[in-house]
Amino acid sequence: MTRRYDEVMSLSLRRGFIWPSVDIYGGFAGFYDYGHLGAMMKRKWEDLWLRYFLGLSERYYLIDTTNILPYKSLKASGHVDHFTDILVKCSGCGLSHRGDHLVADATGKSAEALGTQEIDTEIEKLNIRCPKCKGTLMPSTEFNMMFPLSVGPTGTDQAFLRPETAQGAYLNFKREFESLRRKLPYGLAIVGRAFRNEISPRQGTYRMREFIQAELQIFFNPGTFDDELDFESVADEVIRISFEETKEDGEVEGIEAGDLLGRLPKFYVYHMAKMQQFYLDILKVPRERFRFAELGEKERAFYHKLHFDIEINIDSLGGWGEINGIHYRTDHDLKGHQAGSNEKMTVNVGGERVLPHVLELSFGVDRNIWAFLDVFYEKDDRTVLRLPKEVAPITLGIFPLVSKEGLPELAREVYDSLKHDFSCFYDESGSIGKRYARMDEIGTPYCLTVDFDSLKAKDVTVRERDSTDQKRISIDGLADSLRALLKDEEPA
Ligand code: GAP
Repeated sequence: MTRRYDEVMSLSLRRGFIWPSVDIYGGFAGFYDYGHLGAMMKRKWEDLWLRYFLGLSERYYLIDTTNILPYKSLKASGHVDHFTDILVKCSGCGLSHRGDHLVADATGKSAEALGTQEIDTEIEKLNIRCPKCKGTLMPSTEFNMMFPLSVGPTGTDQAFLRPETAQGAYLNFKREFESLRRKLPYGLAIVGRAFRNEISPRQGTYRMREFIQAELQIFFNPGTFDDELDFESVADEVIRISFEETKEDGEVEGIEAGDLLGRLPKFYVYHMAKMQQFYLDILKVPRERFRFAELGEKERAFYHKLHFDIEINIDSLGGWGEINGIHYRTDHDLKGHQAGSNEKMTVNVGGERVLPHVLELSFGVDRNIWAFLDVFYEKDDRTVLRLPKEVAPITLGIFPLVSKEGLPELAREVYDSLKHDFSCFYDESGSIGKRYARMDEIGTPYCLTVDFDSLKAKDVTVRERDSTDQKRISIDGLADSLRALLKDEEPA
């Protein structure tokens, strides 16, 4: 792991963002818990994601579906037969490795596209040995990543923990189509847990066995979807993109969305532009640390016709890393469930029978949280987490300058008046400088201080995290003034 990883993880552990689960028993590989700051940041990230992506259309909605799915539904989706990674065991110590990771570590290039035979050939050619004991490696096999379960007292009902939230939307497609007045396109979002028995969980929260996804499944008529989107609103958006044939680490050129047409379908480019706007305009991720990266046919999941990942340059994990994907899944899923359930998934739109296609906007919440801790962490003469205001776990630190002569009482009054509308933290311990530093380190955008002038003028100083500039703001109407500041507007 890099030095930056250690720094970000140390902040995370010390202040309460994320840490290994069950660590009093030595940890549990592939599982992480969110502490009090991490849980709040995650919740705010999810809320922002929902507001933005449900806001893309009046026909995009949130649903909530089960974590456990029966065997037959995942057989029909293809996961029982195809949701595999390549497993390579060591003949000496018995340790399990992911075949493509062994080859990638030896060559410095992604090996996700290789099958079992190709992995075995590479292992032999490159003389790859077990990274732990240097023992010889056994021939590779396909390993299904789903966690099996038996449901009920007899244990005869076979099931799995869901490997992606997406299936919940497909299983509910028909019911929602009926209740949403039988119109296409429409979208179903799910934010929830997914479970994969990863062969070698690694890089902290980047590859876990239980993780959180925020996914929007958009069901559409492929004959008409392009005409139903306001493409003009994004045609000039310059998309940072790296195509498969030219893919290399480092800089990528931006291409105007309008110029991508022909190469990619219009509806696809439209949603790429919207995803990019979420990161660059709303979340203020630096442009040079964001890109789309195309996946080749052999790298994509079995159900995707088109697949670009969103990657962020995450220093602590050694560079560009996938955090989200935009997947054109065609009619693969509804067709599979139609065959598996004998329930018709075709719908009548304008007198025509259509089996809808699916565009999936898929986000890994934990990877986003880690990427944000990395991207916005700055250690210089002071340590500052320059998080977007909307996702900072605590919005306001509220302090009396000193703990005497009526200042704590007024500061408490200010705290009580704001605590139901903002995430606030009251603190009167230590010097004011130390209290500011503690808030900077966890990304709190504003600190409010009650000083002796406040007693007379009935105001507070408001200190901004990034610039450290301070201004005095009246306690009367303080909540409205703070709302304005949080929207980057001048308070009245
Ligand atoms: N429904 C499509 C789907 O699940 P995916 O690329 O397998 O596609 C989507 O996963 C996102 O979920 C990824 O971009 C990543 O952010 C997150 N993700 C996948 N596997 C993960 C893991 N083992 N640990 C943490 N996040 C993971």
